[in-house]
Amino acid sequence: MRKVKTISTVLVTGGAGYIGSHVVQALIRARYEPIVYDNLQTGHREALKDGIFIIGDLADREALRKIFQSHSIQSVMHFAADCLVGESLKDPLKYFNNNVRNSLQLLEVMNEYCATKFIFSSSAAVYGEPQQVPITEEHPCAPINPYGETKWIFERTLQWFRALDRVEFISLRYFNAAGADPEGELGEDHAMETHLIPLVLRAALKGDPVPVFGSDYDTPDGTCIRDYIHVSDLANAHILALESLIQSGDSATYNLGNGIGYSVREILAAAERVTGKKIKTVEAPRRPGDPARLVASSGKIRKDLGWIPKYSALETILETAWQWYRNHPKGYGSKGAKSMEHGA
Ligand code: UFG
Repeated sequence: MRKVKTISTVLVTGGAGYIGSHVVQALIRARYEPIVYDNLQTGHREALKDGIFIIGDLADREALRKIFQSHSIQSVMHFAADCLVGESLKDPLKYFNNNVRNSLQLLEVMNEYCATKFIFSSSAAVYGEPQQVPITEEHPCAPINPYGETKWIFERTLQWFRALDRVEFISLRYFNAAGADPEGELGEDHAMETHLIPLVLRAALKGDPVPVFGSDYDTPDGTCIRDYIHVSDLANAHILALESLIQSGDSATYNLGNGIGYSVREILAAAERVTGKKIKTVEAPRRPGDPARLVASSGKIRKDLGWIPKYSALETILETAWQWYRNHPKGYGSKGAKSMEHGA
């Protein structure tokens, strides 16, 4: 007899953000029931089309308790975090408070309510300046900025809680998330955009120049090399991770990238091909905290969980993002999306 899957409720902190909202969409498609908890500081209500949405801050322990009291939650996906390397060097306290202290509180409340499955949004920033690329999960972790340090501290926290049988976790170390939902519903909309691909595409639309942060790195064209991964491929990896945790309970840490590095200048050239526009650039000093090269080996997640990226071509990543920017020149504000009625 065919086994009918029971609906599983998943708490998604930061689910209204760029990566979180794509994962929420994937969860709904995979017949899970996400409960999004987001303070909307950087996320967008309009990015949530369905499901339960609760506005709240991770620092609010009582609000978190209320959610666990009112819903039967076994699994948590934790996206709510500050995630800018440059900002973390200027305001480290913000990063330690939000990414470490508030995450610890979430873990504490999960423990109170016996919720044990934790999917953690970690980052390539845990590696620091890599000794070699592609980087495997065994590469030593030595962050070179407070953002990476907070992610590493919390990974280690999860490892300890696992050792003490308090949690089962999968930490996903994202390389550079980019692109947008191929169906055009969701995209990247940061009030203060600092990421290369959105800035390059905005520049293609508006004509303002893109600063190239450092042209004297030890790379073939002197600019930094990154491994760009499509946000929908990233979202799919979260579903596989959740299924693995629910079925086997085995904790693990996985890199998520495509294994191909592109320099800043290669991104600019590809964006010119995709948009058909000339993109102006301006030489700028190196950005503090930027490693020269970050390229993932994602062999482990492919082997263990059967993850196969569908949108790995750089052109696809840029085209989906470009489609989103052309249709939403003012981000989610462009569409006047209807507000949601849900809440708890
Ligand atoms: N860059 C420019 N000009 C810009 C913006 C970026 O030259 O205007 C360069 C950066 O110096 C970097 C590359 O483009 O070399 C990519 O920069 P992003 O800001 O798009 O992304 P990051 O590599 O800084 O960030 C990513 C992830 C973080 C992770 C970090 C690790 O988003 O989560 O890599 O260094 F922590």
